Amino acid sequence: MHELDRLQASCLLEIEDCDSLRKIDLIKNAIFGKNGKLSGFLKNIKGLSDEKKREVGARANAVRAVIQERLEARSRVLEMAELDKKLAAESVDVTLPSRFSQPGTLHPLTKVIEEVAGLMSTYGFVFADGPDIESEYYNFAALNMPDHHPARTMHDTFYINTSADDKGRKLLRTHTSPVQIRAMLANQPPFRFFSIGRVFRSDYDATHTPMFNQIECLMVDDNVGFSNLKWFISGFLRKFFGAPNLQLRFRPSFFPFTEPSAEVDLNYDVVNGKIVFGSGQRWMEIGGAGMVHPNVLESGNVDPSKYRGFAFGCGLERMASLKYGVPDLRGYFESNERWRNNFGFNHATRE
Ligand code: DAH
Repeated sequence: MHELDRLQASCLLEIEDCDSLRKIDLIKNAIFGKNGKLSGFLKNIKGLSDEKKREVGARANAVRAVIQERLEARSRVLEMAELDKKLAAESVDVTLPSRFSQPGTLHPLTKVIEEVAGLMSTYGFVFADGPDIESEYYNFAALNMPDHHPARTMHDTFYINTSADDKGRKLLRTHTSPVQIRAMLANQPPFRFFSIGRVFRSDYDATHTPMFNQIECLMVDDNVGFSNLKWFISGFLRKFFGAPNLQLRFRPSFFPFTEPSAEVDLNYDVVNGKIVFGSGQRWMEIGGAGMVHPNVLESGNVDPSKYRGFAFGCGLERMASLKYGVPDLRGYFESNERWRNNFGFNHATRE
């Protein structure tokens, strides 16, 4: 019994002296653990008589309860103290100035995509899409470029190493024109579609990157003529470049999927080192266009005796470069912060 009293007294002292929660755990273990003081004491009473054992056992339980209660009380005090310490150390000075954060900017291509898409919809053109990984058939044959057509070699195509199916080999599309076929097949004429998307060609220098973006548009109706094509492209480009007096020149050209075909030039002048569209007599090419070839309408399940169409295609980076004065094509794809700060658009300037 004396031993129990001493044990209780020494434990309570130890608890009183304890100054951290971590040490409380150690103390707990030193008393109640497998080899702890109380457990050790209880092991030693095995030799006592039953009656004595009951007496000592009851007293030991009381001691355990007292010690446990003190441990809990001390833990609560220490917890509060540690919390206070933490709160004092972690105080925030709300009067400090905030950290500088660099706001993101819109990539110039994003801006131009939004502008082009907005203009297209005012002309009643609906967005149509196609896959980056195309079949030979949609990229070439359906666009009036059968096997061995010489125009195929001009496209520097990336072919994909998979087996061919009934639509030929797989490739990375070399232009957005295959979207014309897919859109025609999925809809009933009359229609007006536009598409914007990535295209790929095995070509790399200051004015060519292996991946770039094209804009494509297609209108099919029962009485569409070259005049409609000219009216639409003129209006679209005048609005896009914000140049109401922009002159267009349609130069006869050749594309397998249009007949007749034209390359479209814009007039411009250079004033103080800057390109100004719609003034002067210099000409710059912007894209290709033409009346959709009857074979192409047929590939799209459109009857060429009932319907006619026009198509227009051009490079998105070229439109962006001319409008916003971006000199080197490669900058568009390099994710360089300084380049972006020069040519990007922050959200405040978004119209
Ligand atoms: N698909 C042509 C190319 O990449 C561009 C083009 C020319 C598209 C004339 C057209 C078009 O829709 O009518 O090179």
